[in-house]
Amino acid sequence: MIHAGVEPDPTTGAIMTPIYQTSTYVQEAPAKHKGYEYARSQNPTRTALEAAFAAIENGKYGLAFSSGVAATDAVIKLLQPGDEVIAASDLYGGTYRLFTKVFEKFGIRFHYVNMQKADNIKQYITPNTKLIWIETPTNPLLNIIDIAAAAAIAKEAKALLCVDNTFASPYLQNPLDLGADIVMHSVTKYLGGHSDVIQGCLVMNDQALREQLYFIQKSCGAVPGPQDCFLVLRGIKTLHVRMQRHCENGEKIAHFLRQHSKIGKVYWCGFEDHPNFEIAKKQMRGFGGMMSFSLKDDNVDNAKKLLSSTKLFALAESLGGVESLINHPASMTHASIPKEERLKNGLTDSLIRLSVGIEDIDDLIEDLNRAIG
Ligand SMILES: Cc1ncc(COP(=O)(O)O)c(C=O)c1O
Repeated sequence: MIHAGVEPDPTTGAIMTPIYQTSTYVQEAPAKHKGYEYARSQNPTRTALEAAFAAIENGKYGLAFSSGVAATDAVIKLLQPGDEVIAASDLYGGTYRLFTKVFEKFGIRFHYVNMQKADNIKQYITPNTKLIWIETPTNPLLNIIDIAAAAAIAKEAKALLCVDNTFASPYLQNPLDLGADIVMHSVTKYLGGHSDVIQGCLVMNDQALREQLYFIQKSCGAVPGPQDCFLVLRGIKTLHVRMQRHCENGEKIAHFLRQHSKIGKVYWCGFEDHPNFEIAKKQMRGFGGMMSFSLKDDNVDNAKKLLSSTKLFALAESLGGVESLINHPASMTHASIPKEERLKNGLTDSLIRLSVGIEDIDDLIEDLNRAIG
C-alpha cells in the first residue's frame, strides 16, 4: 500500500507525487509532447494514482473518476440499448437510482436478483446479457455473494462481471483474483479514508476493456482534480493499518451489540452464523468495520432517538473514514430505493448502520452503551 504505483517524481525526484495543478501542457511542435496534452485526458498526479489503484487490486489498469457513481456510470456506458444487466437486488441506493432513473430510459434492461445463491443469476441470462453487477458485502445488510461462482456464470454467458468492492476494500478482498472483469470502488470511502474526498475508480486486466473505459472517461469527462488525487495517494499509504484497526474495532463492536439486551438483530459478516459466512471466509481476509443492527424494541422512533444520541459516532452519510459514523439507511443512504423494494430485501425503517472508525475501542463502546441506554 505504501509503495503502490508511486515512483519518485521524474522531474525533481520528489518522493511524494506533486499536485500537477494544470489544465494543459505546452507542446514542442504540434503533436510533439511528453505524453500529456490536456488534463481531462491525462494528468501526472492522476496517472500515479491510477497505477496505485491497479497495484492494490492486483490489476493491470486503473482509472480514476470524479465519484463512485461516475465510475459506475462509465461501466454502464459500455452497453447499448437492448442490452441487459443482472444486478444484485441489495445495492447501494445511488447505484440503484442510476440504473433505474438514468439508464433504463436509454433502453438498458436491469434485472434485480437475490444473488445470495449465485445460481439464481442463471435464470436471468439471455443472449442480451452483457453485464453482471454485484456488491459484496452489500450496503447496508452485509450480504455476501460468491464472487468466483458469479464470475464462472458471467464467463459462460460471455458477459462482464463488475464487483463493487467498496465495503471490503482491496485490503480484505480482490475480486479480479476471483475472476471478475472489473472492480469498482467508491474511493470516497476506505481508499481515501479521511472523509475529505469524493472519488471513484475502476480496475481491470483486459487492455481492450481498459481502452473502452478510458475512451468513456475522457469523452464524458468525469475525472477527479489533481488535489483530490494527491489526497487519495496519501490515503492509500495507510490503508492497511487503518483496515487492521477497522477490523479489530468492528469485531468488538459487533460482539458488544450482539450481547446487549436492548439490541435485536446484528448484521456483520464475521459472525459464524451470518448467511454465507463460509463464502466470506473464503474470499475475504477479514470482515471489516461495517455493520447494521435493529433494536429489540424495534420501531422507528426508538431508532431515531438512538441515532441522535451518540457523540463519537457522528450521524452522517458515507463510511470508511477514520472517524466512526452512524447512519439511518431508510432515510439517508438508501432513501432513493422505494420502500417496498427496501422491505423486500430486509432493509427496515428502523435499521441502523455503523461505520466503525479507528478510535479507541473503549471510547466507542462507551458512546454506544450510553446512547442505547
Ligand atoms: C457501496 C457503494 N458503492 C458506490 C457508492 C457511490 O460512491 P460515491 O458516493 O463516491 O459516488 C457508495 C457511496 O456511498 C457506496 O457505499
